[in-house]
Amino acid sequence: MNIKQLLSQRIAAALNACGATDAPPVVNNSKRPECDYQANGVMGAAKRSGRKPQELAAEVIAAAQMDDIAESLEIAGPGFINIRLKADFIASHCAKTNPTVSPVANSQRVVVDYSSPNLAKEMHVGHIRSTIIGDSLSRMLETLGHTVIRQNHVGDWGTQFGMLITHLADVQAKPEHGSDGATADDEFALDDLEGFYRASKQRYDAEPEFAQRAREAVVGLQSGDADARALWQRFIDLSLAHCDALYARLGVKLTRADVQAESAYNDKLEGVVQRLRERNLLEMSEGAACVFLDEFKNKNGDPLPIIVQKTDGGYLYATTDLAAIDYRTHELAADRVLYLVDVRQSLHFKQMFTLARLAGFANQEISLEHLPFGTMLGADGKPFKTRDGGVVKLASLLDAAEAQATKLLDARAERSELSAEERAQVAKAVGIGAVKYADLSKNRTTDYLFDLEQMISFEGDTAPYLQYAHTRITSLFARGDIEASDIASTPILVEAEERDLGLALIRMQEVLEQAVSEGYPHYLCTYLYDLATRYSRFYESCPVLTSEGEMRASRLALCERCEQTLSLGLELLGIETVARM
Ligand code: ARG
Repeated sequence: MNIKQLLSQRIAAALNACGATDAPPVVNNSKRPECDYQANGVMGAAKRSGRKPQELAAEVIAAAQMDDIAESLEIAGPGFINIRLKADFIASHCAKTNPTVSPVANSQRVVVDYSSPNLAKEMHVGHIRSTIIGDSLSRMLETLGHTVIRQNHVGDWGTQFGMLITHLADVQAKPEHGSDGATADDEFALDDLEGFYRASKQRYDAEPEFAQRAREAVVGLQSGDADARALWQRFIDLSLAHCDALYARLGVKLTRADVQAESAYNDKLEGVVQRLRERNLLEMSEGAACVFLDEFKNKNGDPLPIIVQKTDGGYLYATTDLAAIDYRTHELAADRVLYLVDVRQSLHFKQMFTLARLAGFANQEISLEHLPFGTMLGADGKPFKTRDGGVVKLASLLDAAEAQATKLLDARAERSELSAEERAQVAKAVGIGAVKYADLSKNRTTDYLFDLEQMISFEGDTAPYLQYAHTRITSLFARGDIEASDIASTPILVEAEERDLGLALIRMQEVLEQAVSEGYPHYLCTYLYDLATRYSRFYESCPVLTSEGEMRASRLALCERCEQTLSLGLELLGIETVARM
């Protein structure tokens, strides 16, 4: 149980004892100096029972049995209760025997749909947010004891693939076609998927004969023609290899086993449409099979269609998503499904979730959640583009970040003990870490400005700041030649800075639980930044290695706890820690 829950439970018991049983209190973390947590809910309870909030609050404080936890309980405003924790209570929660994070009681099966690029093109900056946020949330969920099923719902189906595999066949036969990104040696590789797409599209638009073959290839693919299928498979493998390389570079945990592509649902799509027809949900509109739901209308009040089958018989993105919900509900037996997808698809997911429940693809218990995110913006405040207006490839963005990190580290090379080799390694950790942190630390629903200089700095709320804070502790331990026996099992919190640090340390569990339940990794970032700042203040005013006896052992215990919390926190964000910087 986290601290908030523990406090809520005690206040609830006190409310109960005062005859106010109808509403659970809410306990919040407080930023005010005079209190650590604040309980509300007394006011509501007072209103409902016709009592004065102040009086009920006083009664609740008298009835509360919190001597083991709280140093003081005080009425604040109309019916709030300020809670100040006992130093001993805080210290005991920082004890070695107390895990930094423990599994929650109600473990769930959670499907996380993230990254999910379209395999026809190269992954670009638009996919980075989904990949980074989804990966971090998955790690957090697992650490809290949930079962995570990662689903990389890659787009590997549709008419574009006809053109791509036709071009691929030509390149393999006649390498001169592949001047743009394809080679025809034994180890055939698409080293430039974006260029390959452009070349195929150009041919599709300019060469009627090619376009004709491309359309035939689509028909071939859909009817299961073996040659078309084999070429398609080749293309998909090559494209997925691009993704794998980026995942490896980003330290993202997605593997091939997590790929559950759109094509995996092909043979279910007919059944999806059939089911909708049986439930009388289907209507024909201009030759296409559609569902119209009352909830979804356009500005003029006209119903919006969800198209599930086109006039030519082809199925759509929506049809596949309905099949995927069915699979996730009934085969994966998920309690919760998280979709990390661009905010521009909000309407799509609202429609999918409503329709899925109506048609029985989802049951009533499953929680379907679209966790949208905004756009990554360039310095000009417009969606991030290359100078000539093209999409920014993920790989080149990461190159730029590593180069900037190298610059930062080189500038302080004289003061650092790192060898050139170590420095190169640290630059990687800093560059990639900074890109991830910049994304994770913002509220995901907002657009954000991609600013390399700001994110790759030792000052401010950045990855390097946290990575550096972490190395300060590890290097302190190295300098002092500290062994386990030098460290107290429970710290003693005397100075205000020690108490402040301890208070932050015991909050990790509640912060993580909140981040996971609301799907906001930035809660963890805000917390870690605050923790690192508190450590800094503690370190400045409380000597560690030069203090003696019990005090030294106690302070070392705080340092150790802080090191563990920071390194776990960074790991959950998918950010590497380094031994020194
Ligand atoms: N491939 C889609 C895109 O790039 C994202 C898929 C998200 N997941 C889903 N189940 N629809 O826009």
